Amino acid sequence: LPIGILVSGRGSNMEAIAEAIAAGRVPARIQVVISDRQEARALELARQRGLKASCLVPREYPSRQAYDRALAAALKKEGVELVVLAGFMRLLSQDFLDQFPGAVINIHPALLPAFPGLNAQRQAWEYGVKFSGCTVHFVDAGTDTGPIIAQAVVPVRDDDTPETLAARILVEEHRLYPEVIKWLAEGRVTLHGRRVSVKI
Ligand code: GRF
Repeated sequence: LPIGILVSGRGSNMEAIAEAIAAGRVPARIQVVISDRQEARALELARQRGLKASCLVPREYPSRQAYDRALAAALKKEGVELVVLAGFMRLLSQDFLDQFPGAVINIHPALLPAFPGLNAQRQAWEYGVKFSGCTVHFVDAGTDTGPIIAQAVVPVRDDDTPETLAARILVEEHRLYPEVIKWLAEGRVTLHGRRVSVKI
Protein backbone atom coordinates (compact mmCIF):
# COMPACT_ATOMS: atom_id res chain seq x y z
CA LEU A 1 0.00 0.00 0.00
CA PRO A 2 1.52 3.35 -1.01
CA ILE A 3 1.27 5.72 1.95
CA GLY A 4 2.10 9.36 2.63
CA ILE A 5 2.89 10.54 6.16
CA LEU A 6 2.04 14.07 7.28
CA VAL A 7 4.04 15.44 10.22
CA SER A 8 4.65 18.66 12.13
CA GLY A 9 7.11 17.78 14.88
CA ARG A 10 9.03 15.07 16.69
CA GLY A 11 8.32 12.24 14.27
CA SER A 12 8.33 9.28 16.65
CA ASN A 13 5.19 7.72 15.15
CA MET A 14 6.62 8.17 11.66
CA GLU A 15 9.74 6.34 12.87
CA ALA A 16 7.71 3.49 14.36
CA ILE A 17 5.82 3.08 11.09
CA ALA A 18 9.01 3.23 9.00
CA GLU A 19 10.65 0.63 11.25
CA ALA A 20 7.68 -1.73 11.08
CA ILE A 21 7.68 -1.48 7.28
CA ALA A 22 11.47 -1.96 7.06
CA ALA A 23 11.18 -5.04 9.29
CA GLY A 24 8.62 -6.54 6.90
CA ARG A 25 5.81 -6.37 9.46
CA VAL A 26 3.59 -4.01 7.43
CA PRO A 27 2.96 -4.41 3.68
CA ALA A 28 3.18 -0.70 2.86
CA ARG A 29 5.61 1.67 1.24
CA ILE A 30 6.28 5.26 2.38
CA GLN A 31 6.09 7.29 -0.84
CA VAL A 32 6.62 10.65 0.83
CA VAL A 33 6.77 12.43 4.20
CA ILE A 34 5.40 15.99 4.17
CA SER A 35 5.71 18.52 6.98
CA ASP A 36 4.00 21.88 7.41
CA ARG A 37 6.97 23.09 9.50
CA GLN A 38 10.51 23.49 8.26
CA GLU A 39 11.89 22.92 11.80
CA ALA A 40 10.14 19.56 12.30
CA ARG A 41 12.59 16.94 13.56
CA ALA A 42 10.46 14.44 11.64
CA LEU A 43 11.76 15.87 8.33
CA GLU A 44 15.35 15.31 9.39
CA LEU A 45 14.60 11.76 10.59
CA ALA A 46 12.80 10.95 7.33
CA ARG A 47 15.75 12.16 5.28
CA GLN A 48 18.19 10.19 7.44
CA ARG A 49 16.19 7.10 6.53
CA GLY A 50 16.42 7.96 2.85
CA LEU A 51 12.72 8.69 2.58
CA LYS A 52 11.46 11.35 0.22
CA ALA A 53 10.63 14.30 2.47
CA SER A 54 9.34 17.76 1.72
CA CYS A 55 7.89 20.78 3.43
CA LEU A 56 4.81 22.76 2.44
CA VAL A 57 4.63 25.96 4.48
CA PRO A 58 1.08 27.31 4.96
CA ARG A 59 2.06 30.98 4.93
CA GLU A 60 3.35 30.58 1.38
CA TYR A 61 -0.22 29.94 0.20
CA PRO A 62 -2.97 32.55 -0.16
CA SER A 63 -5.66 30.48 1.57
CA ARG A 64 -6.36 27.27 3.42
CA GLN A 65 -8.02 25.98 0.26
CA ALA A 66 -4.91 26.68 -1.80
CA TYR A 67 -2.73 24.96 0.80
CA ASP A 68 -4.92 21.88 1.00
CA ARG A 69 -5.00 21.66 -2.80
CA ALA A 70 -1.21 21.78 -3.00
CA LEU A 71 -0.94 19.15 -0.25
CA ALA A 72 -3.40 16.81 -2.00
CA ALA A 73 -1.60 17.31 -5.32
CA ALA A 74 1.78 16.51 -3.76
CA LEU A 75 0.40 13.28 -2.29
CA LYS A 76 -1.40 12.28 -5.50
CA LYS A 77 1.74 12.92 -7.52
CA GLU A 78 3.52 10.28 -5.41
CA GLY A 79 0.69 7.79 -5.88
CA VAL A 80 -0.33 7.89 -2.23
CA GLU A 81 -3.42 5.79 -1.43
CA LEU A 82 -3.44 6.16 2.36
CA VAL A 83 -2.70 9.45 4.14
CA VAL A 84 -1.28 8.91 7.63
CA LEU A 85 -1.33 11.86 10.02
CA ALA A 86 1.46 11.47 12.56
CA GLY A 87 1.51 14.54 14.77
CA PHE A 88 0.28 16.76 11.92
CA MET A 89 -1.05 19.87 13.64
CA ARG A 90 -3.48 21.18 11.02
CA LEU A 91 -7.12 20.43 10.35
CA LEU A 92 -7.78 19.19 6.82
CA SER A 93 -10.66 20.64 4.80
CA GLN A 94 -13.54 18.56 3.45
CA ASP A 95 -12.21 19.25 -0.08
CA PHE A 96 -8.95 17.56 0.85
CA LEU A 97 -10.70 14.63 2.52
CA ASP A 98 -12.96 14.13 -0.54
CA GLN A 99 -9.82 13.42 -2.59
CA PHE A 100 -8.88 10.50 -0.29
CA PRO A 101 -12.23 9.01 0.70
CA GLY A 102 -11.92 6.63 3.66
CA ALA A 103 -8.16 6.88 3.32
CA VAL A 104 -6.97 9.45 5.85
CA ILE A 105 -6.13 8.25 9.37
CA ASN A 106 -4.88 9.91 12.55
CA ILE A 107 -3.60 8.86 15.96
CA HIS A 108 -4.73 10.69 19.08
CA PRO A 109 -3.17 10.23 22.53
CA ALA A 110 -6.41 9.67 24.49
CA LEU A 111 -9.40 7.35 24.44
CA LEU A 112 -11.74 9.30 22.16
CA PRO A 113 -14.32 10.73 22.35
CA ALA A 114 -12.76 11.82 25.67
CA PHE A 115 -10.13 14.56 25.54
CA PRO A 116 -9.97 15.60 21.88
CA GLY A 117 -7.71 18.46 20.82
CA LEU A 118 -4.37 19.58 22.16
CA ASN A 119 -2.54 18.21 25.21
CA ALA A 120 -4.84 15.23 25.51
CA GLN A 121 -2.57 13.39 27.95
CA ARG A 122 -2.54 16.37 30.32
CA GLN A 123 -6.31 16.83 29.93
CA ALA A 124 -6.86 13.19 30.94
CA TRP A 125 -4.41 13.43 33.85
CA GLU A 126 -6.02 16.63 35.16
CA TYR A 127 -9.50 15.13 34.86
CA GLY A 128 -8.38 12.25 37.05
CA VAL A 129 -9.31 9.30 34.84
CA LYS A 130 -7.88 5.92 35.90
CA PHE A 131 -7.30 4.70 32.34
CA SER A 132 -6.30 6.51 29.19
CA GLY A 133 -4.63 5.42 25.98
CA CYS A 134 -4.60 6.15 22.29
CA THR A 135 -7.04 6.02 19.39
CA VAL A 136 -6.48 5.48 15.68
CA HIS A 137 -9.38 6.87 13.68
CA PHE A 138 -10.46 7.86 10.21
CA VAL A 139 -10.24 11.61 9.76
CA ASP A 140 -13.27 13.78 9.14
CA ALA A 141 -13.46 17.57 9.05
CA GLY A 142 -13.81 17.83 12.87
CA THR A 143 -11.11 17.73 15.53
CA ASP A 144 -10.51 14.07 16.43
CA THR A 145 -14.14 13.15 15.66
CA GLY A 146 -13.88 10.53 12.88
CA PRO A 147 -14.80 6.81 13.04
CA ILE A 148 -12.65 4.85 15.50
CA ILE A 149 -10.57 1.99 14.07
CA ALA A 150 -8.66 0.85 17.17
CA GLN A 151 -7.77 1.86 20.70
CA ALA A 152 -5.18 0.80 23.25
CA VAL A 153 -5.60 1.35 26.98
CA VAL A 154 -3.04 2.20 29.65
CA PRO A 155 -3.55 2.67 33.41
CA VAL A 156 -3.05 6.04 35.06
CA ARG A 157 -0.97 5.58 38.22
CA ASP A 158 -1.18 7.69 41.38
CA ASP A 159 2.39 8.91 40.97
CA ASP A 160 2.03 9.79 37.27
CA THR A 161 2.71 13.22 35.91
CA PRO A 162 1.36 14.30 32.51
CA GLU A 163 4.81 13.43 31.16
CA THR A 164 5.01 9.89 32.57
CA LEU A 165 1.46 9.21 31.39
CA ALA A 166 2.29 10.56 27.91
CA ALA A 167 5.35 8.29 27.74
CA ARG A 168 3.26 5.21 28.64
CA ILE A 169 0.69 6.13 25.99
CA LEU A 170 3.42 6.73 23.38
CA VAL A 171 4.66 3.14 23.73
CA GLU A 172 1.16 1.98 22.76
CA GLU A 173 0.94 4.50 19.90
CA HIS A 174 4.11 3.09 18.39
CA ARG A 175 2.67 -0.43 18.58
CA LEU A 176 -0.90 0.34 17.48
CA TYR A 177 -0.36 2.68 14.52
CA PRO A 178 1.75 0.27 12.42
CA GLU A 179 -0.71 -2.52 13.29
CA VAL A 180 -3.67 -0.51 11.96
CA ILE A 181 -1.77 0.37 8.77
CA LYS A 182 -1.15 -3.36 8.32
CA TRP A 183 -4.90 -4.08 8.66
CA LEU A 184 -5.70 -1.38 6.10
CA ALA A 185 -3.03 -2.64 3.70
CA GLU A 186 -4.50 -6.13 3.98
CA GLY A 187 -7.99 -4.79 3.20
CA ARG A 188 -9.40 -5.98 6.52
CA VAL A 189 -11.03 -2.72 7.63
CA THR A 190 -14.63 -1.86 6.76
CA LEU A 191 -16.65 1.24 7.57
CA HIS A 192 -20.37 0.92 8.25
CA GLY A 193 -21.60 4.45 8.86
CA ARG A 194 -19.38 5.48 11.73
CA ARG A 195 -18.76 1.99 13.00
CA VAL A 196 -15.59 0.26 11.87
CA SER A 197 -15.04 -3.49 11.82
CA VAL A 198 -11.75 -5.34 11.39
CA LYS A 199 -11.69 -8.84 9.96
CA ILE A 200 -9.45 -11.16 12.00
C1 GRF B 1 1.50 11.91 19.29
O1 GRF B 1 1.28 11.92 20.67
C2 GRF B 1 0.22 11.71 18.55
O2 GRF B 1 -0.69 10.90 19.23
C3 GRF B 1 -0.32 13.11 18.43
O3 GRF B 1 0.81 13.91 18.23
C4 GRF B 1 1.95 13.28 18.79
C5 GRF B 1 2.95 13.17 17.69
O4 GRF B 1 4.19 12.70 18.16
N1 GRF B 1 -1.30 13.20 17.37
P1 GRF B 1 5.30 12.26 17.11
O5 GRF B 1 5.58 13.46 16.21
O6 GRF B 1 4.77 11.09 16.33
O7 GRF B 1 6.49 11.89 17.94
